[in-house]
Amino acid sequence: METQFLDLLRRRSAYRAIDPRPVEKDRLQAMLEAAQLSASCMNFQPWRFLVLDEAEALEKGREALVDGNYWARTAPVLIIGLSRAELDCRPADGREYFLFDLGLAAQNLMLQATEFGLTARPMAGFRPDVIRDAFQIPETYTVLVVIAVGYEGDLNTLKENHQKASTAPRTRNPLEENFFFNRFEEPDPS
Ligand SMILES: Cc1cc2nc3c(=O)[nH]c(=O)nc-3n(C[C@H](O)[C@H](O)[C@H](O)COP(=O)(O)O)c2cc1C
Repeated sequence: METQFLDLLRRRSAYRAIDPRPVEKDRLQAMLEAAQLSASCMNFQPWRFLVLDEAEALEKGREALVDGNYWARTAPVLIIGLSRAELDCRPADGREYFLFDLGLAAQNLMLQATEFGLTARPMAGFRPDVIRDAFQIPETYTVLVVIAVGYEGDLNTLKENHQKASTAPRTRNPLEENFFFNRFEEPDPS
């Protein structure tokens, strides 16, 4: 079935080349509003996002990126997603919801970026301690993700493997591997 929403999800860019031209402030604002409209446990809204869009702050963010994420250095905006457990639901049986809710908000932010034709790619490949030191983030926070945001740039600035990955079709498991109706059955790992 084709829906406008599935189309938006398919357009979420796998592209890594990012043009340095700035992202319009009103578009950035809309992305933050999209994140803010996310569901969260008891509406605790535990997500915190640190938006880097000025030269000095951006440079500090770029320094935290691992070498493999060299492509994100041209992004005019880096958005750091962070939270801490005490900001969200913590049922007595040990479940924690802060990272789940941070992820929901990050996804909404990225989808709004997609609607604007922006690339918004999340990264685990960064050094949280570098971010923590640069922006005086308390130890109680988990600095979970950096999202590189910007308009699509020149593919030739990328290493060959990233050029290929940027234009390759998306790969996903068949639905049966991840979704179950009415009974759960762990697939045969062989
Ligand atoms: C938590 C998380 C961490 C990721 N870290 C990186 C990263 O450090 N560098 C990178 O290029 N892509 C990173 N990605 C992007 C994934 O590689 C990408 O989403 C995945 O391969 C599926 O491709 P698609 O997003 O184009 O559908 C990350 C994605 C997530 C959700």
